Amino acid sequence: MTTQSIQEKLKSQILGKEFSCLLETDSTNARLKTLHERQARPNGFMLIAEKQSQGKGTDGNVWASEKGNIYASILFEHSNKINTLFPLYPAVALAKTLNNYQIEAHVKWPNDVLVGQKKIAGILCEGVSGKYMIMGIGINVNQTTFPNHLSDIATSAKLESGLDFSIEEFLADFLNEYETLFYGKGDIIKEWCHISRMIGKKISISQDGKKKEVEISGLSPEGFLQIISEGKSETLMARRGLDISVNY
Ligand code: BTN
Repeated sequence: MTTQSIQEKLKSQILGKEFSCLLETDSTNARLKTLHERQARPNGFMLIAEKQSQGKGTDGNVWASEKGNIYASILFEHSNKINTLFPLYPAVALAKTLNNYQIEAHVKWPNDVLVGQKKIAGILCEGVSGKYMIMGIGINVNQTTFPNHLSDIATSAKLESGLDFSIEEFLADFLNEYETLFYGKGDIIKEWCHISRMIGKKISISQDGKKKEVEISGLSPEGFLQIISEGKSETLMARRGLDISVNY
């Protein structure tokens, strides 16, 4: 992966129009934050790395980050588009990109991208309120083996399709899809519901350690998960403390 090979493929006008590419870093999210605070980067600036030594996952987990996959962070300047819907866009864009490669990806609330019951990507949005937001995404592209503790829950584009992917082309396709969705006029709630398999399903969730069966009724206009639990409608606003089963 070289700066030139990426430049040749990228067609997006804002997202990734300017970028830096590193062989290795601790975390592209952490590094982009430092870079931006040292010297302001433009809206849409992207930092990519071939490997990460301290990839950050949700809930303080480590995102295992070996070579052959995509590890990218994109900077978004503060705007009215940085709202509770913001984390849904990259997930829908990635699922659509994978679908275009005949990989049957779907989204799990709020922004996990799954193929079957296995996770193919992770998204971590971090920012400073009122200033900027960083969307970090790790996409399992060409990885074919996973450590034991991940082998039942993780997959990659190559494992699902048998194809060897060009990282540059895949990234370019994803950025185009993401840019069209994020800056376009489409309805993200509709798109999310369309590419998710959760709506209308009975799913077991665990909320702060308490297990229950709920029905998923939809997404609220803010992108929150609407459920019916013991006959009552409820809205789940945050993923923290929430474990949603993938058996649906
Ligand atoms: C998750 O746990 O599902 C979220 C994982 C997010 C990983 C990506 S890899 C690129 C970016 N940099 C990081 O340190 N984390 C995100």
